[in-house]
Amino acid sequence: MRLENKVAVITGGSSGIGRAIAIRFAREGAKVVIGDVTTEVKEGGEPTVDVITQAGGIARYRHCDVAKWADVDALVGAAVDEFGKLDVMVNNAATLGGGQKLLETTEEDWDNVMAINAKGVFFGCKRAVQQMLTQPVVGDARGRIVNISSQHGMVCAPGKIAYGTGKAAAVYITRQVAVDYAEDHIICNAVAPGRILTGKPLGGPGSDPLEYSKMRTPMPRLGRPDDIANAALFLASDEATYMTGHNLMVDGGWMAF
Ligand SMILES: NC(=O)c1ccc[n+]([C@@H]2O[C@H](COP(=O)([O-])OP(=O)(O)OC[C@H]3O[C@@H](n4cnc5c(N)ncnc54)[C@H](O)[C@@H]3O)[C@@H](O)[C@H]2O)c1
Repeated sequence: MRLENKVAVITGGSSGIGRAIAIRFAREGAKVVIGDVTTEVKEGGEPTVDVITQAGGIARYRHCDVAKWADVDALVGAAVDEFGKLDVMVNNAATLGGGQKLLETTEEDWDNVMAINAKGVFFGCKRAVQQMLTQPVVGDARGRIVNISSQHGMVCAPGKIAYGTGKAAAVYITRQVAVDYAEDHIICNAVAPGRILTGKPLGGPGSDPLEYSKMRTPMPRLGRPDDIANAALFLASDEATYMTGHNLMVDGGWMAF
């Protein structure tokens, strides 16, 4: 029970990595509030809240488009109204977008991807910090933020300029929030997944993006959502001491290659 009595908000928690994080956090004792644009599970299965509730955990769903401040504000507000505080904010929601390389990316593609992948992280961090500053310091922290970034954005996301730029922004926001609010005991880190098998459409060069991912990954398998949930759990827990502004790569060695 590494998150016993903690309250966690997770964006994009209906599918994939966010779903794995929500289920793992609930199993570790957290009260989980999921913000997503749908309860539908891309990879199939029961809605995340049902899975958690059936296992005896506590979870809520609230419709939230992270590109809209009013939605993010209401999401965190609802969590605090019901559970009294916000210990952990996971900014996970993102889109691959329809964009391609520079010349094929339209202004609309760019704005859509950046609104979710960059502005959504900005809104999530901002709303979390607003709330956490009102809370007492417990142990080392008033609260912890975990942003889900990507290997893409540190290295090129082949053919996906808007996605890579949005992910680079998420890493930058992580560092900025970490430094600006370190003296306030707010801890902000990121997890950078490599290729994780989820219901998300595959991006990558060539006719078989999966082959590209395998070629780029030294370990003999691609990632599972639980690989990222394990890392997010560590960063959300009291075990992650004296680290902030970090971007933890969980990528099977992609970035070492
Ligand atoms: N899967 C990978 O290989 C991989 C690699 C690197 C980084 N990531 C990152 O991990 C995170 C999760 O990826 P995934 O593979 O689980 O994706 P996914 O597409 O399977 O799930 C994304 C979830 O976010 C939700 N979402 C989308 N737009 C939203 C919005 N505007 N507001 C609220 N929720 C919204 C979706 O409904 C969905 O539930 C993303 O930040 C992604 O960029 C994934």
